[in-house]
Amino acid sequence: MSDPVAGVAVRVAAARVLAAVLRGRSLKAELATALPRFDDSRDRALLEAICFAALRQRTRYDAALQAWMPKPLTARDAELRGLLLAGFAQLDALQLPPHAALSATVEAARALGRSRQAGMVNALLRRAQREGLPAADPAEAWPGWLRARVSADWPWQAAAIFAASAEPAPLWLRVNRARIARADWLQKLDADGIEGTADDRLADAVRIDTPLAVSALPGFAEGEVSVQDAAAQAVADALAPPAGARVLDACAAPGGKAAHLLERDPSLQLLALDVDPRRLRRVADTLQRVGAQAQLKAADAADTAAWWDGRLFDVVLLDAPCSATGIVRRQPDVLLHRRAQDIDALVALQARLLDALWTVLAPGGVLLYATCSILKDENERQIDAFLSRTPDAVTEPLDAGFGHVSGVGRQTLPGEGGRDGFFLARLSKRKA
Ligand SMILES: C[S@@+](CC[C@H](N)C(=O)[O-])C[C@H]1O[C@@H](n2cnc3c(N)ncnc32)[C@H](O)[C@@H]1O
Repeated sequence: MSDPVAGVAVRVAAARVLAAVLRGRSLKAELATALPRFDDSRDRALLEAICFAALRQRTRYDAALQAWMPKPLTARDAELRGLLLAGFAQLDALQLPPHAALSATVEAARALGRSRQAGMVNALLRRAQREGLPAADPAEAWPGWLRARVSADWPWQAAAIFAASAEPAPLWLRVNRARIARADWLQKLDADGIEGTADDRLADAVRIDTPLAVSALPGFAEGEVSVQDAAAQAVADALAPPAGARVLDACAAPGGKAAHLLERDPSLQLLALDVDPRRLRRVADTLQRVGAQAQLKAADAADTAAWWDGRLFDVVLLDAPCSATGIVRRQPDVLLHRRAQDIDALVALQARLLDALWTVLAPGGVLLYATCSILKDENERQIDAFLSRTPDAVTEPLDAGFGHVSGVGRQTLPGEGGRDGFFLARLSKRKA
């Protein structure tokens, strides 16, 4: 932490971010506003770590509040609840030195205009320090309808899915092979005293288990490495476009998979589409940082009349918008915001995208369908339905390195091999 005043400001900001997220706002959007207010990267890292830890362990911390508070908190106490969750996260998940965590959090209660409750905050945090936080079943963090769907789809794995989704993810990096060999970059990492391991199954992946700011990584600003989960890195292997292929990345933002494909083969002619023009700008930034080039267009990929020039693609990547149920450990607020009707709308959108994109794929070409969902309606059942209405679609098997067999595709479940939950299906178009 930079200084004690900033330390209190970080706790105040954490309380406000958490209160907003618990009221229904997105964690990503709230952090995007809160983080730039801190100049010191250590303060920003701490704010992020507190918010993520508090949301991942929310059910345990809420259980403590329910058991230990004489009077339940009301809707008007949202910031106070946020502050208490933040306090528990510091002592429990983050294991910060208790004295500093306690004094900054109690001071933050005063800064939030809650001087009268500062004593109570102090008492609750001391109790947490003394007794520890109660255990809770990680499944309880999932809304009932979603828990039921996951349990129905993955009866034997559901408990492990819920548990893994409450744990922090390792930091996965992708080494830009156009700039530096992975072994050489690992040497630089070692010289900086940071421990990282090359993943045997993925040619570009490095895993780091101790949390650190990416700005501390050698060559990060120069685009030698990017942050990307191992499951997402597997997409480039599953797609494996031939040299010089015309590639469509239909849902490209923020550009991680497009960048990976181009780092591997700069001869690809890649068109990156995204419906959201602001997110598409992030693709431009991503590609510039790693030194890759592509054509970028803001358009609804399903509305081919609006963007397609009539030339067929050899390869299509549909990294579809989805429920994000495979990445709850990275987006813990998914569990607070997702509604059952969202899934129906997503399934319909994915089907519309599949049907439209099939028409721009050349005979003999390959479409890879990917989601970071673990729900079979978005994954194996989505692809089964597509195959039954698309006579010229042929399935191409993916090997066991891509996860469990799931219909004609493969599924990794959250935490397996340190990876996110991710589904892949590879389809080719029969030649006439
Ligand atoms: C899972 S993300 C893609 C991640 C990206 N492939 C990467 O590796 O960085 C899904 C993207 O689909 C975009 N999207 C949603 N509906 C779309 C549509 N109808 N046409 C094109 N893009 C769409 C969203 O804006 C979002 O950026």
